[in-house]
Amino acid sequence: MPERRVGLWLIGALGGVGSTTALGLAALRRGLTDTTGLVTALPQFSGLDLDEPSAIVVGGHDVRRGSLADSVATLARRIGAFDATVVEACRADLEEWGENLRPGAVLNGGDAIAALADGPNRPQPSSPRAAIDLLQNDIRSFRERHRLAQVVVMNVASTEPAADHRPEHASLERLQPALASDRGILADSSIYAYAALDLGYPYVNFTPSPGASLPALIELAEHRGVPTVGQDGKTGETLVKTVLAPMFARRNLRVLSWVGHNILGNLDGRVLSDPRNKESKVRSKDQVIGQIVGYPLQTHTSIEYVESLDDWKTAWDHVHFQGFLGVRMSMQFTWQGCDSALAAPLIVDLARLTLLAQRRGEAGILQHLACFFKSPLGVAAHDFFQQFELLESYLRSARNST
Ligand SMILES: NC(=O)c1ccc[n+]([C@@H]2O[C@H](COP(=O)([O-])OP(=O)(O)OC[C@H]3O[C@@H](n4cnc5c(N)ncnc54)[C@H](O)[C@@H]3O)[C@@H](O)[C@H]2O)c1
Repeated sequence: MPERRVGLWLIGALGGVGSTTALGLAALRRGLTDTTGLVTALPQFSGLDLDEPSAIVVGGHDVRRGSLADSVATLARRIGAFDATVVEACRADLEEWGENLRPGAVLNGGDAIAALADGPNRPQPSSPRAAIDLLQNDIRSFRERHRLAQVVVMNVASTEPAADHRPEHASLERLQPALASDRGILADSSIYAYAALDLGYPYVNFTPSPGASLPALIELAEHRGVPTVGQDGKTGETLVKTVLAPMFARRNLRVLSWVGHNILGNLDGRVLSDPRNKESKVRSKDQVIGQIVGYPLQTHTSIEYVESLDDWKTAWDHVHFQGFLGVRMSMQFTWQGCDSALAAPLIVDLARLTLLAQRRGEAGILQHLACFFKSPLGVAAHDFFQQFELLESYLRSARNST
């Protein structure tokens, strides 16, 4: 057992991504799976002081009733792709970590999320300030109970509707007084982000929800000396788009239009079938091509809920482009990914890299992690290769300074 133990606090722990991350960590710890899918297992990450997956203790919040072990078992049955013996062998770890789960907060996450919440009763906080106090208490006592050197808070909860811009979001000085009196001042994801950063715990936003993206919360991260990063994990269709678009750009082939249709059937898809929640996701997925090719073009991204597909997100993309002598051509691809299995190893990567950054004294936005996100905070580039170069140059400097 490693000496330094760290915590991974999952907001939305019972969801597909949260459950698969917990299963993956337990399977890694027991040597029942290998590190395929983990970016931090690539050779260029060796020699860094990253936490071993076996050093990570899981806890979290959710607004739905249920146990972590049962959520994993149900997901495994639905997906039909996890090895049943691995799921069974990990059950004891999942039951143990399930004891660390606490009811989450739903003040301001929109109707689609409020409809999900059937978690155990606990008095609903009267204000964002009261919610922050409750959430901080849960996370702090998790750290103390397990004697954890650090805890990283990871948002893998349902996607919220886009947040209204409020003048109070501009600075910490303006935000703080409103927390006690204005119930609608922050989206739930930003309440969690505030709770984490104010405690001095790194906050990672794997969703398109606002989270720590507000100027006041970036200021809080810098003020407390804590790293933060987001947002919206780049795991499937958008990953392919940001790898392919640079090819068209570098061959000077003019992209005329790029249309992507996505269909999925899991709980995430159900929440995204509410147009207000869907808008945040579509915006995040649709912006990338124009930025990479450097000129305006017609793009369209759709996301539809097709229940029978469950976690097997399927995307069909049509790229219309023009070559020499005005010749028009097209390219199409189909992507069929198991969403939770694509996301889970990246959650482990982000936890390891964010905890490392905190030990190295880094604070504010971690720009070198842009390649993990569809809408990277603080980085304009969407080109996957440019983003990966940011990570590699960080690794070089981290290695030189050890
Ligand atoms: N799977 C991927 O490849 C991928 C990629 C990028 C982003 N994401 C995002 O990650 C998030 C999780 O995806 P998923 O498939 O696990 O979704 P999911 O619907 O299966 O799980 C979300 C969980 O969050 C919980 N939740 C909702 N609001 C909460 C709150 N206020 N506090 C605590 N818990 C709350 C729900 O009860 C649910 O258990 C989604 O926002 C999704 O868009 C996923």
